[in-house]
Amino acid sequence: MIAVVLVGGEGTRLRPLTLDEPKPVLPIGGVPFLSLLLDRLAAAGVTRVIFSCGYLPERLRVGIGTPPPGVEVEVVVEDEPLGTAGAIRFAAAGRVDGPFLALNGDVLGDADFGALVRAHAAAGATASIGLTPVDDPTRFGVVVCDQDGNVERFVEKPPNADGLGPAPWWVNAGAYVLDPSVLDLVPADRMVSIEREVFPLLVGNGLIACQAEGYWRDIGTLESYLAANADAIGGQLHTRLGGSPTALLVDPTATVAAAAQLIAPVSIGAGAEIAEGATIGPDAVIGAASRVGANSVVRNAVLLDGAEVAAEATIERSVVGRGATVGERSSLLDSALGTGEIVGSDQALNDERRPH
Ligand code: GDD
Ligand code: MG
Repeated sequence: MIAVVLVGGEGTRLRPLTLDEPKPVLPIGGVPFLSLLLDRLAAAGVTRVIFSCGYLPERLRVGIGTPPPGVEVEVVVEDEPLGTAGAIRFAAAGRVDGPFLALNGDVLGDADFGALVRAHAAAGATASIGLTPVDDPTRFGVVVCDQDGNVERFVEKPPNADGLGPAPWWVNAGAYVLDPSVLDLVPADRMVSIEREVFPLLVGNGLIACQAEGYWRDIGTLESYLAANADAIGGQLHTRLGGSPTALLVDPTATVAAAAQLIAPVSIGAGAEIAEGATIGPDAVIGAASRVGANSVVRNAVLLDGAEVAAEATIERSVVGRGATVGERSSLLDSALGTGEIVGSDQALNDERRPH
């Protein structure tokens, strides 16, 4: 089985974290998001993964790291964004000769892709969409089906829930199985959206949907990125991290002062240093080689690799970028610092106006 993973987006709502690093390689619980996705694809029997990208392709290649055994990875780069369908066509044409998986590369989950593949085969479908329940349909592609799973309507980002039935709404979870014939429906010379142009054409023509079991979250905003990290270390989703609500995932090469307090769930990466009196957690991910000074508080936050937080500082609902620095007694609330950014001493940063 082949999978095409769409990773062309610029991750604008996660800036400045995504200015020098595509969103899918940002770490979740200390591990690149795409690396967790590759684990899942390997578990579902996928042997070849084609990443379809345009934004920062070199950084993406580095961020993917070493794929799991038995999985071959290829990165296909578009000159111009082709839209979701155009990108799938560009990446898959000439490389697939049977049904293949196509995935949005910004969705964190643990549902079994194999179940979608089996449902597709059992129904003899042309295209199959994995569904997840949400309570705000306006940010997603809403799918209305009959009892047998045949899709009756696909409405991308409806302005409101009128005419869509009662909550919860089942929406496109960003995982499809597509017959190669679907590629013939995609014009080659312009941007084409699979959600707005291709799925509506397939309604009544072999488009089915299947409810996915398990954890699901779109990681587009600071809030959802932090929640995804908390869920990974807290064990709400199943990953190789082995998270749980009581997890203190401390790398053996990290140094934690005896007088520091760790409140689960917490993850502390290789070579990180936590000074005396610091409080880490709950829901804190401290990246490799990061440092937290004496009496500082880091909760519901992520420090990327090499970040430094000086003494008496507070980091809450925030992300400190790679190698970024927060000075003594400063506080960072609802904010994100990009790579290498510096916040001096005695500063108070609060960015509640960030996009949600
Ligand atoms: N290569 C490439 N080229 N990738 C693209 C392009 C493109 O032109 N446009 C979007 N992508 C990638 C994005 O990087 C992302 O991984 C995925 O395609 C979906 O695009 P988003 O921009 O994140 O869409 P969305 O989140 O607003 O909505 C989509 O995802 C929802 C689930 O999270 C839709 O598929 C909805 O129907 C769905 O419910
Ligand atoms: Mg998205």
